[in-house]
Formats: sequence, structure tokens, C-alpha cells
Amino acid sequence: MMKLRATEYTWEQFEALPMETKAELLAKPDGMPFCTLFAQQFNRERIDALCDLATKIRQIAKTRSGMEFLQSLLFHKRAMIYFTQPSSRTFLSFHSACQILGLRTGEVRDAAISSEFKGETREDSIRTFSSYFDLIIMRTQEKGLAERMSWVLAKSERPIPIINAGSGKDQHPTQALLDIYTLRRSFERRGGLANRTILYVGDLARGRTVRSLSNLLLNYDNIRHVFVAAEPLQIGQDILDMLDRRGASYVVTDDMQKYLPEADAVYMTRIQDEWDRSKGESARIDTSKFKINANLMRLMKPSAILMHPLPRRDEIATDCDTDPRAMYWRQMRNGMWIRTALIASTFDCQSRIEAFFRDNF
Ligand code: CP
Repeated sequence: MMKLRATEYTWEQFEALPMETKAELLAKPDGMPFCTLFAQQFNRERIDALCDLATKIRQIAKTRSGMEFLQSLLFHKRAMIYFTQPSSRTFLSFHSACQILGLRTGEVRDAAISSEFKGETREDSIRTFSSYFDLIIMRTQEKGLAERMSWVLAKSERPIPIINAGSGKDQHPTQALLDIYTLRRSFERRGGLANRTILYVGDLARGRTVRSLSNLLLNYDNIRHVFVAAEPLQIGQDILDMLDRRGASYVVTDDMQKYLPEADAVYMTRIQDEWDRSKGESARIDTSKFKINANLMRLMKPSAILMHPLPRRDEIATDCDTDPRAMYWRQMRNGMWIRTALIASTFDCQSRIEAFFRDNF
């Protein structure tokens, strides 16, 4: 079993390391992540490898013999899906990804019905899961928990991989991977993903998907980031500082209509009022300018795409759904394939998948 180099540090030392150093310490010898915790673990080479693998897997999965092959790959492994924060598509797409690769799954979706209710610490819960399973996929309310638990397991006798499926308001790295996969597929026959303008709209202060995606897009040349939100819901200064450090171009605005005609991708997000500090806090913010409908879509380029991590409320009217530029349903399905590729890569299945693909396609 792989021993992470993170064990050379105390938790406080590890937590304080720059993201780039942490990414190296969390990598397998082939450079791909052992634990997938944040978007900064993925450089261009790793993103391309994962997207190419996802595309091969979805081809292979079209046939019965292909599915039998895929399901044989990790038939000997088990995954724990530990989701103590609500989810539909991330949970179901990870569950489906495990089924595609033959992994059996266990799940806890409510800490109140686990022994955490009796006072067991998160550390002991995670160590318990690692006794029975070979992979933990976790979504939690708490920022940084997946990272801390990876460090805890790295010190244990069973340092199994952890995949962060959403951690507080901070990161959602696998959502960013599926977003990039969607962008890549949308623009691959139209000059690629470089030199594009991406509009992020909605609740950018509390939306972890935008934080992870803007990080991942730093791997592409000359991306212009346009953050469109009401002032209390604007993107965090830490993301703008990171874009400054990397010399990336960005605009911070509350004028969606002005920038819609310039966008190559419009990434809508919902108001995340589950994070409100006081009841009705979000309802007091005027968000009426941060919604799109079929009429407003007329302002977008014919080649632009409309994305959303989902779930949506009313920020995308249903009259947009039939527009060929509406990408959110395909985006969601892409999540299953990129998550399948990520799990396959975590367990070093790439070369077998590539060999099967070469022999059969
Ligand atoms: N995009 C996303 O994380 O959706 P769920 O909350 O339904 O998993």
C-alpha cells in the first residue's frame, strides 16, 4: 500500500505548506494524485491524461464486452461513499462510476446514524472506514476535512486514497474536472480552450465549484475570467490574488448583460442560502440581474455554451433547456465518466484501459 510523503510532516506543518508542495506530496509515482483533494493537484498534462482516459472509457462502455472488461478492473476493491452533506449528482455519479469499474460500495449519508452520533471523532470514523474499504469518497460541510483525513490515514496502517467530493465553501475538485472535460469537448473541434472568456454568474462567494474551476483554468493560455455577482456574493479576494500571481486577466462586475456577448462559456450558479449566517440573509440581496432565460441567451455568441453545476433554482429558466448551447445536462453526465477515469487512475488502471482500447477500437 502506498505511503504518502505527507507523513514527513505534522498536521500543522502540512496544512501550512504551499498548495504546489502539497500536490507533489499527494502524488503517486506516475504524477497523478493518490488522494484527490483540491484543483491545484492537476496540471495540464494530468488534466489531458484524465480527459483522454474518460473518453476511452465511455467508448469502451458502449458494448457488453467492454462493460465486462471495465467491471473486472476493480472487482477486488470496495469504496466507502461518505456524504454527510446533501447531494444528488455527485453521489450518484460516483456510485455509478464505482459500478462501471466493478467496485462494491458502502455508504454513510447521515453522520447522525453512524457512531459519530455517539461521540466518535471524524478521525476514528475515517480510520474505521479504512478498515473495511479501499477508497473513501467524501463530501462534507467542513472546509479542509478531506485534506486532514488524508493526512490522518497517511499515518495509519491502511493509508487508502480519499477523493474530495465537495468540502465546505472551499473546493469541489471533481466538479472542476467535469467542467473542464465539458469545456474541452465543447471546444475541441473549434480551436481548443485557450483564449476564451468565461463568465461566472451568481453566488461566487459561497460556490466552491467556481473556486475550483478558476484554479483549473489556469492551466490554459489566455483565459479571461469575468466574475458577475451582487457585491455581497462576489468572488473571494484569495481567488483574485491567485489570478494576479499567475498573471491571469479578470473582471469583477455586476453587469451580466454587458459581458454576455463576449463570453465563450457562461457558468451560472445558484444562490447558496444554506450557508446564510442569519435567516433570510440571501433573500435581502437583489439577485434578479443574475438570471438567464431564452431571451437573454440571444445576446450570447452562437458558439458559446451555457453551463451550470446544478442543482438550479430559477437562475436558468427552463426555456433555455432546448437551446443547443445549453450544456448542463451533458455536463452532469460527463461527471460520471471523468469520475470513473479518476478512480481508474487512482488505482493505476490506465495502461490496461489503453491496451483494451487499442485492441478493440
Ligand atoms: N454539482 C453538484 O455538486 O451537485 P450535487 O450537489 O447534486 O451533488
